Amino acid sequence: MIKVRIAGTGSYLPPTRLTNDDLARRMDTSDEWIRTRTGIRERRILDAGAVPAEMGVAAARAALAAAGKGPADVDLLIVATNVPEEIIPGTAPYLAAALKLAKDAPFFDVTAGCAGFVYALALGGAMIAVGLAKSALVVGTEALSRFVDWEDRSTCVLFGDGAGAAVLVPTEGTAGILGVSLHGDPTKLSLLRIEAGGVRRPATVDTVREGLHFLRMEGEGLFRPAVTMMARATREALARAGLTLQDIDWVIPHQANLRIVDALAKRLGLPPERVVVNIDHVANTSTASIPIALDELARTGRVEPGQVVALTAFGAGACYGTVILRW
Ligand code: UT7
Repeated sequence: MIKVRIAGTGSYLPPTRLTNDDLARRMDTSDEWIRTRTGIRERRILDAGAVPAEMGVAAARAALAAAGKGPADVDLLIVATNVPEEIIPGTAPYLAAALKLAKDAPFFDVTAGCAGFVYALALGGAMIAVGLAKSALVVGTEALSRFVDWEDRSTCVLFGDGAGAAVLVPTEGTAGILGVSLHGDPTKLSLLRIEAGGVRRPATVDTVREGLHFLRMEGEGLFRPAVTMMARATREALARAGLTLQDIDWVIPHQANLRIVDALAKRLGLPPERVVVNIDHVANTSTASIPIALDELARTGRVEPGQVVALTAFGAGACYGTVILRW
């Protein structure tokens, strides 16, 4: 099997900031509640007139530049997202068109809740490993602000918009994807969903009136399982890589809640300085959360060649998984 490494990362956050105090002026919430329950201080929101795909395009261009590659070098595009540009044809073709990829390069979307980027990275890596692609651009892009109910304080305060990307290439060196673990638990599918707008319940005037096109979450039901799921996948991916928890230099958990991140670190016995946290300024950006945090880690020079990085996520479905890399 061909070995695969990340050659470059990129990310994009829309310029409009929405602080907890801004939200407290609009609804019955407070900076204190949001900060202590979630760790979030502010989030970025895509402006009403902005085109969502432009976030993914900006992140992808930055990742390509970091990898020293251009759009013509992209052999495969995988886009992880929960809320596509359009139900048909999704988001990937919009990104392929805007990026001006080689005209016959394959592209597709992956839907795996907030674990979408981890799934997409594993898939892109596997496709290169078996010789189905020579390079892959993997993007996580999300504009959930357009699907939250701004009257529902229990969910709307949690999410933010953004995009992140990574370029995967074959390698003969020691850096690269070392181990993967992907899992699902469909007993939890009702905990996080958008009920109407799909084929099961197409959008009608009534579904819109009832607000069924909004994202609904029973956050409490996901809180504890999230820790168990990410811990299980991380242990399994490490074992497949022939490594142990002591070998991890950085863990980048999906940024859903600082308390979940802290509980995961405690469960795995990882010291806080090895855990990447950026939820304070980005909130939960779903599929974009891990590539944004990875890009911040790479661009600030904190991750050094040879270090072991664990990317772990959970989300709607429930889908969860971990990818272990050597940087
Ligand atoms: O990305 C993957 C998906 N995301 C997740 O899986 C998130 C997982 N869950 C969580 O992060 C947490 O469960 C939440 C942050 C969603 C909620 O935290 P919690 O500690 O589980 O709070 P809670 O739902 O038990 O609510 C506690 C109280 C309730 O009031 P009562 O019933 O105790 O009087 C809520 O009405 O807090 C109230 N509340 C709020 N108060 C102020 C809920 N939202 C807010 C708010 N501001 N924004």
